[in-house]
Amino acid sequence: MIKPDAVANGHAGAILDRIIKGGYKIVAMKYTTLSADIAGKFYEIHKERPFYGELVNFMSSGPIVAAILEKDNAVEDFRTFIGATDPSKADAGTIRADFAKSIDANAIHGSDSNENANIEGNFFFSQFERF
Ligand code: TYD
Repeated sequence: MIKPDAVANGHAGAILDRIIKGGYKIVAMKYTTLSADIAGKFYEIHKERPFYGELVNFMSSGPIVAAILEKDNAVEDFRTFIGATDPSKADAGTIRADFAKSIDANAIHGSDSNENANIEGNFFFSQFERF
């Protein structure tokens, strides 16, 4: 998911270009805005964390791009490709190093396991939109 900060800053196109050139096939994609309720559900796992309220506010603050990507070893490789959660600690050349400004507004989300990739794909896309 390309997060509201990156979309608002006009970086969605550049990030998608990197993703495609990085060898990821876009299986499904949508441009939408999350309500606070939906953003809260997406990040439910962080409900007890101190940053949860801010995270939900931020994630529902403007349009996002959700996509399902396909590649060998996609989940692990994509986490490396986007860089550390805190962009100041992200490796040079990663998406977060180049496009994110802070740990809370960090440009992009990548699923952290195959299981979660499936759950999150189903969160955004119906069975008719993914194949
Ligand atoms: P997390 O799942 O730890 O990181 P990642 O997105 O790299 O898998 O956290 C989810 C999001 O929560 C993170 O992208 C941004 C936000 N967040 C904060 O705002 N402050 C924090 O201290 C942390 C750890 C995360």
